[in-house]
Amino acid sequence: MRIAFFDTKDYDIESFDTLVKEKNIEVKYFESKLNIDTVGLTAGFDGVCVFVNDQITKEVIDKLYDNGVKAIFLRCAGFNNVDLTAAYGKIHVYRVPAYSPYAVAEHAMALYLTSNRRIHKAFNRVREYNFSLSGLTGNDLHGKTVGVIGTGKIGRIFINICKGFGMNVIAYDLFPMKDSDINYVSLDSLFKESDVISLHCPLTPETTHIINKDSIALMKKGVAIINTSRGGLINSADLLQGIKDRKIGTVCLDVYEEEGSLFFENKSGHIMDDSTLLQLIAMPNVLITSHQAFLTKEALSNIASTTVDNMIKFFSNELNSDFEVCYRCGNQEHCAKKRNAKCF
Ligand code: NAI
Repeated sequence: MRIAFFDTKDYDIESFDTLVKEKNIEVKYFESKLNIDTVGLTAGFDGVCVFVNDQITKEVIDKLYDNGVKAIFLRCAGFNNVDLTAAYGKIHVYRVPAYSPYAVAEHAMALYLTSNRRIHKAFNRVREYNFSLSGLTGNDLHGKTVGVIGTGKIGRIFINICKGFGMNVIAYDLFPMKDSDINYVSLDSLFKESDVISLHCPLTPETTHIINKDSIALMKKGVAIINTSRGGLINSADLLQGIKDRKIGTVCLDVYEEEGSLFFENKSGHIMDDSTLLQLIAMPNVLITSHQAFLTKEALSNIASTTVDNMIKFFSNELNSDFEVCYRCGNQEHCAKKRNAKCF
């Protein structure tokens, strides 16, 4: 089998290269993202391996299909960048549903701790022999209320981390976990009662801009917002306004609505066109990392082994991986996925 990797970074090659050689998978690593301009590179390949900011639109899927590509292997959990309706019946889509939920939950807390205790500012001060403490005051986490939106794999680990700090945890999920000790509340109550809000739900039509001017209006003055899920969960212009209004006290972002052409790349020395991002970066109470929450050795190793396993199972024609995405084909009664068969 021949697989074209897109948006490949040095750490991807490090984690995949030995494994694909062991399994006799022929690969070509492209640095560019897969989109309508680069899809021509896929001619002669059986599959493509992509990441979060490749744009797998209907047009790209049609071209992949024409080029003979049979499967898309996402080396990530989220699949909001793939047009699944267009893919259904043409190209199979596989993902890595979990590679290290700990990596993401721990990064969410790392961002908040850094921001709350001004560690990033203290680091720079001390390097210049500035030992003043002015402006470095934080808050105790103990006794504060944290609102967690999305209580899946990552959300639940984040909840446990927060409990370790003695925080009072409330949560909202469209599908609350049965028989759990999680204190579920309505979304409005979560917005009203939380000192810290952390987003751990997927990006769907219902969750797009779940943080917007109306939800911000419900929040406590000085609220902290953490987003390690997907940028589109937050209306960035409303977030910026909330900061300017002194309503939002702390913002920790690992993802950004318009991150596509920026995050994961070295853009130093370039003129930045995105004025919302420019202003967010300039704010003293905003801390941004560029989609690195997943980046641990354990997560990279799990991503590589599950992705290669997805490839082998797909091309063996005997097995199907559990990790084919659900295309919501509507065929509930005869769901192929439940029988561990290929969906079409
Ligand atoms: P998961 O599928 O285990 O949990 C998601 C939870 O969100 C589920 O409990 C689901 O019921 C809930 N949910 C779905 N729709 C909802 C809605 N409308 N309102 C509230 N809750 C809703 O997913 P997991 O593994 O916990 O990942 C969460 C998100 O984290 C992913 O969707 C992905 O976007 C993001 N992520 C970010 C990474 C990063 O590097 N920054 C790495 C991996 C994942």
